[in-house]
This record gives sequence, structure tokens and C-alpha cells, in this order.
Amino acid sequence: MTDQDLKPLFAAAAANLVYNAPLSEDRVADLVRRLAPEGSGRRALDLGCGGGELLLRLCRAHGIAGDGVEHDAAIAERARVRASELGLDQVTFHAADATTWTQPADLVVNVGGSHIWGGTAQALAALHPLTRPGGRLLFGEGFYRTEPTGEVREVFGDMPDLAGLARATVAAGFRPLHVAASTLAEWDDFESDWRAGIEQVGTPQARAFADRRREEYLGGYRDVLGFGWLILTPA
Ligand SMILES: C[S@@+](CC[C@H](N)C(=O)[O-])C[C@H]1O[C@@H](n2cnc3c(N)ncnc32)[C@H](O)[C@@H]1O
Repeated sequence: MTDQDLKPLFAAAAANLVYNAPLSEDRVADLVRRLAPEGSGRRALDLGCGGGELLLRLCRAHGIAGDGVEHDAAIAERARVRASELGLDQVTFHAADATTWTQPADLVVNVGGSHIWGGTAQALAALHPLTRPGGRLLFGEGFYRTEPTGEVREVFGDMPDLAGLARATVAAGFRPLHVAASTLAEWDDFESDWRAGIEQVGTPQARAFADRRREEYLGGYRDVLGFGWLILTPA
């Protein structure tokens, strides 16, 4: 299948997800609680926000305003519709390239979006000046739980383990305040929900792609690929 064939299938997978990351409702509640901003007039920013649900939850829970930046115009529009459903007109979604954003915020979110800047170190370097002193960055990022096979490494590239990921945040000038990782149950649900979007397409090509992804996961990166949740503050 060419990249052109795959594009609508990836879009169908993303459209079926509330969060495009291995993230349970329990973890959302926990992260929202941990990210309670101190003081008033605080502002949140989610770069690569996808459908915007996490940003909306944060802004609703803490009564703050926010900006979500999402490159894909259709996904940004979906986020606007969701904001309007929730009556959260203090949250603005921008269909834009996150690398062009320059306005710092108190609460910055980047989940599954380090590739926007070209990788973990580059993302942390870009996100540091965007996180106000005393503020928080929620950084959701992949890592290897166990040594990957050559095949898995070929797909996901070089990544550290969780300790290495935390060290990378320190090297970038942050203090890690909370470090956690998605559970296997969160991963299993995420992968199934991701494939469900492809199943809905229903063509033989879509089924073949879903079969391939299921095999790659269950027979390859399940319990090998990790996803870290790090709450960081500028040092
Ligand atoms: C893995 S998804 C994660 C989405 C969201 N953070 C979540 O957890 O549901 C990465 C998102 O980054 C968006 N993206 C990719 N490049 C971008 C860019 N240069 N600027 C803004 N968003 C971008 C993609 O369209 C996609 O929605």
C-alpha cells in the first residue's frame, strides 16, 4: 500500500479515537487533578492537540482559558465542535503548524507530538521557552519498556527507556514532578480502538491493513513500546 492509500486509513483510525494515545479515563482524571494551576488568570496550550479533549477537560476542570494548535484542519474543526458542545468558548482551536507558535502558557501539553519538532530532544527544547516559569508541561512520549527486536526498532526508531526519557527532560532544563507510564490495558484498548476506525471503512484493503497492524502489535511491540506521562516544570 502506498502512503496515498494509507492516509485515509490513518485518518479513519484517528477519527474514531477520543485520545490518540494509550490513555484511560482514570489517567485523564489523575492528570487533570495533578495539573491544577496555582493562582488565577492561568492559560493552557496544547500543541498537536488532535481532537482537543484533554485540553478541554483541563480548561473545564480548572476554569481556565486555552489554545489548541492542530495542523489538520478537519481535526481542528472537530475540536471546535466539541468545545461548543461543552460550552467552552474560552478555548480556541487553531488550524496551524505548532512550530510557529510563540506565545508561552502556564500549562503546556504535548502528547504524542514530539515528531512535530523532529524528536524528543528537539521538542523539549522548543517547549521549554513556551512553558512559563513555575508552570507545567505535560509531555506524553514513547519509550522502550524492554529491548525491541530489530523489526520493532525499524518501525519506531531509537528511543530510550523510561529512565532515559526522564533524563532527557532534565538535560532540556526541566524538573520531572510526576513520571508514569501507560498500562498494558491502556495500550490494548488504544490499539483496538485505533483498529476499530479502520474496520469501519470496511474495504478489503482496510481489513488487510487492520490485520497487519494487529499482528504488528500482538506479535511485536505489545509490552515493548511504552508511553510515558511526565509532568515537568522549568528548572
Ligand atoms: C499522535 S496525535 C496526538 C493528538 C493528541 N495530542 C492526543 O493525544 O489525542 C499527533 C497530532 O499532532 C498533529 N500534528 C502533526 N504535525 C503537526 C504540526 N506541525 N503542528 C500541529 N499539529 C501537528 C497531528 O495532526 C495529530 O493530530
